[in-house]
Order: sequence, then C-alpha cells, then structure tokens
Amino acid sequence: MDELKERIQKEGKVEGNEIVKVGSFLNQQIDTSLLKRMAQEVKRLFNENITKVVTIEASGIAFACAIATEYNIPFVFAKKNNSSNLSGELVCAQVYSFTHNEMNRIVIPKAYIKSTDQILIADDFLANGKSLQGLINIVEECGAKVVGCVVQIEKEFQNGGNAIRRKGYRVEALASIKEISDDIIKFN
Ligand code: G4P
Repeated sequence: MDELKERIQKEGKVEGNEIVKVGSFLNQQIDTSLLKRMAQEVKRLFNENITKVVTIEASGIAFACAIATEYNIPFVFAKKNNSSNLSGELVCAQVYSFTHNEMNRIVIPKAYIKSTDQILIADDFLANGKSLQGLINIVEECGAKVVGCVVQIEKEFQNGGNAIRRKGYRVEALASIKEISDDIIKFN
C-alpha cells in the first residue's frame, strides 16, 4: 500500500538494523483515516467469508478493530497474561518475543472462537512470526479455520512471514520492508 510505505519513509524512525518506530501514526498515536484506508485495503485483499478477526494485545487491537468494522463482524484479542477478568475454559499459546527477549503466555477464552468461525488474524508488525504462529495455534485448537493473516508491516528480512507461508497459510502485508541499513528503509 503506497500511502503506508510513504508514511513509513517520512515518519518512521530506524533503530539499529532491525527496528522501525512508527509511534507517531501507527502505534501509540494513530492516524484514524489512514487506519480506515488500511482496513478497506484488507477487505479488498480478503474478499471472502470472514466471521471474526483475531489479534493480540496491545498494538494489534486498533488494526483488528478497524478491519472488523469494515466487515461488520466482531474481533477478539489474545491477552498476554492470565488476568482475573478471564473466565471459563481458556486456550493458550507460548509466544517468545525476540524484540523483548521474553516469553509470553497468550490467552483467549474458548467461548469466543467457534469451530464454525472463519478467522482472519491481524497484527501490526510481523518480525519472527511467533505472535502470528501463537494465534494460529489458538484458533486451530478451537477448531476454527484460519482464512489468512494480515499485518500492517512485515519485516521480510526476519523471515517470520515466509516460515508461516511455507506451512500453507496466506500471509499478506500492507507494507513489506526488505532491508534496513544506515537509516534507509528499503521496501519490496
Ligand atoms: P514476532 O511476534 O513476529 O515473532 O516478533 P517479536 O516477538 O520480535 O515482536 C514482538 C513485539 O515487537 C510486538 O509487539 C511487535 O509488534 C513488536 N515489533 C517487532 N518489530 C518491531 C518494529 O520494528 N517496530 C516496532 N515498533 N515494533 C516491533 P509487542 O511486544 O507485543 O508489544 P505491544 O503490541 O504490546 O505494543
């Protein structure tokens, strides 16, 4: 999506050779009109029967909500820690974060994903792919179908997307970063 790539070029802040900070329009402060256009693009890409969007807290929530609004369906987010607000049978996955060097247990109540659901998994960044893989595991443990995965930004050089594609899942990115070097972001 050219508009997103241009915005990343203009406002993204590179840290080292791996991290791009997009807090000014995508993460901490969100440009809601861009968010809406991204959700419309997702609906154009996945022109099929989706019954629910699934994401992970915190940064995936806004994107998932915008997508779900376009399809007029609910979205569900996985919590990273077992909170006292969760009740009933829970489905969990262990997700290792390379960025933060920590293991998170992510949790969704089983009642929120039915075996008849057709799920689109959404997140902000795709790096090593552990978050998406954890969400795929939860959705499939609930017996639902993963129609595909969509992320706002894929960092292709970290290879998580290709590992998931090799398993047969459809993974789409609105912007794919091929390489970051010397503060220059190169897109695919
Ligand atoms: P993975 O899920 O693809 O394996 O990636 P990883 O564990 O490395 O990423 C974990 C967290 O770091 C995620 O957020 C992800 O969105 C974020 N992240 C990864 N690469 C970048 C980047 O280049 N820039 C920014 N801004 N974020 C990145 P999180 O820890 O779950 O945090 P949050 O969703 O609670 O904000």
